[in-house]
Amino acid sequence: MKDLVRKNILNFQPYIPGKPIEDVKRELKLKEVIKLASNENSLGPSKKAVSEIKKMLDKISIYPDGYCFELRKKIANIYKVSENQVIFGNGTDEIIELAGKTFLNPEDEIVVSEHAFIRYKMAGDLMGCKVIEVPMRDYKHDLEAMANSVTKNTKIVFIANPNNPTGTYNSEKEFENYYSIIASKNSGVLTFIDEAYAEYVGETDYISGIDYLKNGKNVIFSRTFSKIYGLAGLRIGYAIGTPEIISYIERIRPPFNVSSVAQMGAIASLDDKRHLGKSKQLVFEQKKYLYGELKKIGLQYISSSANFILIDMKKDGKIIFQELLNRGVIVRAMGEYGFRNFIRVTIGTQKENKKFIKEVKEIL
Ligand SMILES: Cc1ncc(COP(=O)(O)O)c(C=O)c1O
Repeated sequence: MKDLVRKNILNFQPYIPGKPIEDVKRELKLKEVIKLASNENSLGPSKKAVSEIKKMLDKISIYPDGYCFELRKKIANIYKVSENQVIFGNGTDEIIELAGKTFLNPEDEIVVSEHAFIRYKMAGDLMGCKVIEVPMRDYKHDLEAMANSVTKNTKIVFIANPNNPTGTYNSEKEFENYYSIIASKNSGVLTFIDEAYAEYVGETDYISGIDYLKNGKNVIFSRTFSKIYGLAGLRIGYAIGTPEIISYIERIRPPFNVSSVAQMGAIASLDDKRHLGKSKQLVFEQKKYLYGELKKIGLQYISSSANFILIDMKKDGKIIFQELLNRGVIVRAMGEYGFRNFIRVTIGTQKENKKFIKEVKEIL
């Protein structure tokens, strides 16, 4: 069989997802388990969205609208772009992969940051191209070094803003500098900005890819319904770029990649501003609580602009992960991201966060 498999698939490292609650309950015979492992919305989905989704269920014998007409209109209107500038995916995960499949040949390069969300590197590995990993600076993407790493073979620069797992973001000033270096190189490179956690960012010098798109830059940026919108289980995300960029990716998008239920959930979630506000407020307040408690325990953490915190546990994160798991708290060990002694914890409800802190104190 091996001979039939593409060469770069033989060494391909699959994605390791957070452990599902039911698995942990079954394996460890626990009644109560909380999951703070995948940066989901701990308040759950919007109730209004759930009620709209239920109405869709009678219609699931029909294929979804592959064009996502209603949702497309809504998104185009929010960003004031044309409808042909939007693409939907089975999660942004799919769009990242589709971008790789659209643009990358084995002789090409992509530039990513060290410790960045791993799916960008995976998109490069999938296509068998060279992945240039640029070291971080202060746990942040070093945009200057990334721009300087662009060569004539570079097709895509992937930037997570904010990044998972560090929770750090890059400022407008850093992006300005990045684009001036790219311009000085006369490079036509595509910048893919992943903004999965943008809604959580409170800093005023944060800038979205939409501004650069409107400035005529070669950019595509993505957003997801999996995080603040609480629809991770439905799998839906979108990206916005120039009509030309989108048209090429659209060519290879599977025809019915986004379910009708997901489309309805997304439309209704966008309308529920109250749920969005509550979700943001919870993360804002609970982040403060967690920072305070971590300081009291004497643990260092990376200041986060998203709904999770990367914490230095001062010993192997895998051990801490397992000990927390035994106590019914699922977090993520960060070894695979190059942070051996760190865990990443999603900011949960007050009750969940208190339980997490209590268990950490007992373990240490
Ligand atoms: C930075 C980042 N981008 C994209 C994703 C994938 O999101 P989606 O559920 O939309 O595929 C994640 C999920 O953890 C993420 O952290």
